[in-house]
This record gives sequence, structure tokens and C-alpha cells, in this order.
Amino acid sequence: MSNVEIPAGLKELLQGYTVEVLRRKPPDLVEFAVQHFTRLLGGQRNNHGAKKCSAKPAWKGVTFDPKPNKPKKVEEEEDTVKSTTSKYIRRVSVCAEAYNPDDDEDDDAEPRVVHPKTDEQRCRLQESCRDILLFKTLEQEQFSEVLDGMFEVLVKPQEHIIDQGEDGDNFYVIEKGVYDIFVQKDRVSVCVGKYDNKGSFGELALMYNTPRAATIIATQEGALWGLDRATFHRLIVRNNAKKRRTYEAFIECVPLLKSLELSERMKIVDVVGARVFKDGERLITQGEEADCFYVVESGEVTITIKSKVSAVQQDNMEVEVARCSRGQYFGELALVTNKPRAASVYAVGETKCLVIDIQAFERLLGPCMDIMKRNISQYEEQRVALFGSSVD
Ligand code: CMP
Repeated sequence: MSNVEIPAGLKELLQGYTVEVLRRKPPDLVEFAVQHFTRLLGGQRNNHGAKKCSAKPAWKGVTFDPKPNKPKKVEEEEDTVKSTTSKYIRRVSVCAEAYNPDDDEDDDAEPRVVHPKTDEQRCRLQESCRDILLFKTLEQEQFSEVLDGMFEVLVKPQEHIIDQGEDGDNFYVIEKGVYDIFVQKDRVSVCVGKYDNKGSFGELALMYNTPRAATIIATQEGALWGLDRATFHRLIVRNNAKKRRTYEAFIECVPLLKSLELSERMKIVDVVGARVFKDGERLITQGEEADCFYVVESGEVTITIKSKVSAVQQDNMEVEVARCSRGQYFGELALVTNKPRAASVYAVGETKCLVIDIQAFERLLGPCMDIMKRNISQYEEQRVALFGSSVD
């Protein structure tokens, strides 16, 4: 080994990477290495005057260029206290650079965006945001900042809120209205779903600094609440880094998610919300429309089915068919089959669950569909064993 020549700078290069790993504790060392060295390479190129793509989000310091077919913000710009970005900002084109929220320390130096609201507006906003999963793991103070930063947007029928392929400007929470989701496949635009008077969209481009992944069109008059990219980064993306650290180990132990790549599992962590249910609280009601899927983090749930043809001909008698505990999932059947909920689910003792909404479920859990379908056949066996095959 004595004649091995160590290239100049190698030691410093590896030391730099090691220090960053120890400092940031990334979940995936290889992915982090790619990000780290890509950043270094970018820095080297910049120093040589060949800047192609900023490693920082490209929204900083861009100029305004109103977009005619975009929804109009209700309040005037003068109402905004210290707002640096706006609905109308068209971002300069971004590269899909790997984004590490912890890098954005100077986000703290950004002026806080506050859109003043009347009490009535704030009430409506709070109601619209009540079930938004991305907000569910925020501290109260961060959640208040999110509410402060949101602005009302009124939309008209056929208005394009988002166009696939564009750069992301805002994240949207739905107050009312129906919105179709179109995704371009082989140059054909296919309607893959819709938002019906609730939910949120537009987080992907902001989280991963990628072009918009779908087109969202209002089918009727509606109202949205927008959150600008900078505030979304400062509050939501930063919180996601924390969430990744919290849930990384747990998600790895969930058998269903084992077949996913690490990066796919981390994307699931980014969109999950955590909810705590009291003993006996109902999480799912048989017969209702489904909008989310659950994984038990702690505690237990009991799954019951109403027996129409019970031995004593008693209506509405609920019979336990299964229980789920840590690491197990439920609530997928209705999402996979597109049918109403086939059973009710109740917490047994205080129970904490991770919750994934239907759009994220469809987008992220495609690779797990086979496993879920395999398990679905067991449900039929359970029902036959309990009620005989005559139960609908
Ligand atoms: P974003 O890519 O920022 O903008 C379009 C949004 O549509 C996207 O974020 C998601 O919030 C939402 N969306 C809903 N369904 C899909 C889907 N199947 N594929 C991609 N995006 C989707």
C-alpha cells in the first residue's frame, strides 16, 4: 500500500461528506452523497462562471409576470404585510435539484408573510384546514403561521389552477368547489380523479422542486386558500425533515411498505398526517365514502361489520372481524375497490395512526397494490366464516 498515491483533496472531500452526514443524519447515505457532491459540483461550476442551475430554490429574487388564466387573489397586494412572493409570480425555470430543507437556514431570515383576514375569513380558513394531513404534524405556532400566510383565491368554472409541467408557485387548500385532476400519459391527458369540496393539492412541485405533476381544473365556481412557495418551504418542508427523522424507523418496519424503495417510503412520510384517537372513537364508518388509509402506530383498532342476517335477526348488530395493531394497515379496501367502506373501525384504548389521503394513496402506493389485493381475498374468507356467503 505504500506506493498508493492519494489524490490531493480526497481526504478533505470525504471528511466534508462525513461531517455533513454526522450533522444532518440523513436516512439514505447514498442519496445524501449524491445531493452533497452535486452541491459541491454546482459550487465549483459557479466559481468557474458556468452557473447552470442554482442549488437554492429558484423563487428567490424572481420578477413578477402575471398569468392571465390563473385564479385571482381576493385581497389586494397592499393588504399583505411584508410579502415577498405572490400568486402572480411566475418562477424562473427550475432544475429538479435534490432539495435538503435543512440547507435553507437563511429561510429564517425571510420576512414572514402575513395576509390579514377578517374573523369570518379566518373561521372559514380554519374549517377548510381542519383535516389537511400536511398540517397535522405542525406545532401550534407553525400552524398559526401557515394560517397567517394563506390568501383567499376565488375560481371560475374551467379555470386552470395548475398546469402540468409548469413550475410550482403555491400550495392550495380547497374551501369549496370540484376540481378535476388530469395527468398527461403518452401525450394524452387523462382525468385520473377529482377533488370534491375538500382536500389540498400542489404540494409535490414545492416539496421536491419538480415541475407540476398534474393539471388541476375547476369544474364550477369555487374557493381556495393558497400558500406561497416560500412559506410552504419554511414551514411544511422543514417540518417534513423532522417527520422523516421521526417516522423513518417506524415506516421501515411496516411490512406492506417493505417492497417500496427508500425514497418512495420517505415520500409517504412527507404526506402522512398523524392522528390520535380516544378509546372507543370511530375512525371509519361502514357505508361511508372513503378518503384515506391508515397505519397503526401505537394502540389497537377493532374492525366490525354490521350483520344484516344475524342469528337473532337483530338489525345493526356489529360483529368484530379483525383487530389491527402497530405496523398493520386498514382502510385500503374501499380505496382499492372504489366502493363505500365495508366495515367500521374503532380505537381500542388511545390509538395513534398515520393517515394517508386518497390522492397520495393512489400516487404512492401503486407498487403495494399487489400485496393489498392479495390480502383482500382474506376479507372475503373472514366474512364467509362469520356470516356465511349470503352477506352482501
Ligand atoms: P403538484 O405536482 O405540485 O401539482 C399538481 C398536483 O396535483 C400535485 O402536486 C398533487 O398535489 C396533485 N395530484 C393529485 N393526483 C395526482 C396524480 N395522480 N399525479 C400527480 N399529481 C397529483
